[in-house]
Amino acid sequence: MLIGRIVLLAAVILGAAPASATERILTLKFGDDSRRFTAAELLARPDAATLAIPNDVSYKRAMTYRAVPMLAVIGAAALKDADTIEARASDGFVSQIPAELVKKAAEGGSVPWIAIEDPDAPWPNLDGQQHSGGPFYLVWENPERSGIGSEQWPFALVGLTAVEHPVHRWPQLAVDAALPETAPERRGQASFITNCMPCHRLKGAGQGEIGPDLGQPMNVTAYVTPAGIRAIVRDPKAVRTWPKQQMTGFTAEQIPDAELDALIAFLAHMAKR
Ligand code: HEC
Repeated sequence: MLIGRIVLLAAVILGAAPASATERILTLKFGDDSRRFTAAELLARPDAATLAIPNDVSYKRAMTYRAVPMLAVIGAAALKDADTIEARASDGFVSQIPAELVKKAAEGGSVPWIAIEDPDAPWPNLDGQQHSGGPFYLVWENPERSGIGSEQWPFALVGLTAVEHPVHRWPQLAVDAALPETAPERRGQASFITNCMPCHRLKGAGQGEIGPDLGQPMNVTAYVTPAGIRAIVRDPKAVRTWPKQQMTGFTAEQIPDAELDALIAFLAHMAKR
């Protein structure tokens, strides 16, 4: 019986391995519409173009890609009713991108492109990693126009899915409704969703699998001081070092001091709810 199971398991693993190793698939799910694209299919689209990115967020230098416009691949009709696009990467990084940012591409905003790694001309490895940013990578043309953040450039992209706003999906993220519209906790919530939730969950909210949950079992503000959190966000290596350090710091340009204070106010607020 046990041997039978092992043989069956081996068959399943062996059967699955070649597909994941050689096939490069991007899955799009918008409403009832689910589509799968291979790299070759996307590269063959008539709107595939050569795109120069002067300040690539993941490679930290100028890069040139073959890429297709994300808006055209999704289709304006499919995007119409979407609130948020969940961009999932194979390493457990999951970014919640407001659909508004993608729609704005048609009105002079930043333009998102899906860069596609050509297996015959692979991209270089990412800094300090054993792999490139491929096979698919979400990059932005003129990111400053819509204020695109560093965590809105998911590499190793495997899926784009239309989802509800994170606060609707995970009510535990909600702030006290009695807080004024301009309360820092509200701005902090938005900053957390954009900058931290791709890696960290909060009381189970989120899909990220890279970093620890910052809300449970103990809220991070219960054991790290505000000064400590500030130091970790600015430069994690200044606080702790070990080999697999996956969190990169955020400059004051990426998260201004006032926004960081709001973010900490939000985390502390969550500890009381
Ligand atoms: C790219 C993924 C990633 C992003 C984005 C990220 N973190 Fe992290 N974070 C980690 C990982 C992984 C750890 C565990 C330590 C390590 O490997 O660096 C961590 C550790 C931490 C810790 C220490 C927790 C503890 O218990 O020791 C804090 C606090 C923290 N992050 C806060 C934040 C905040 C706030 C943001 C958003 C501004 C953020 N992180 C964004 C991946 C990330």
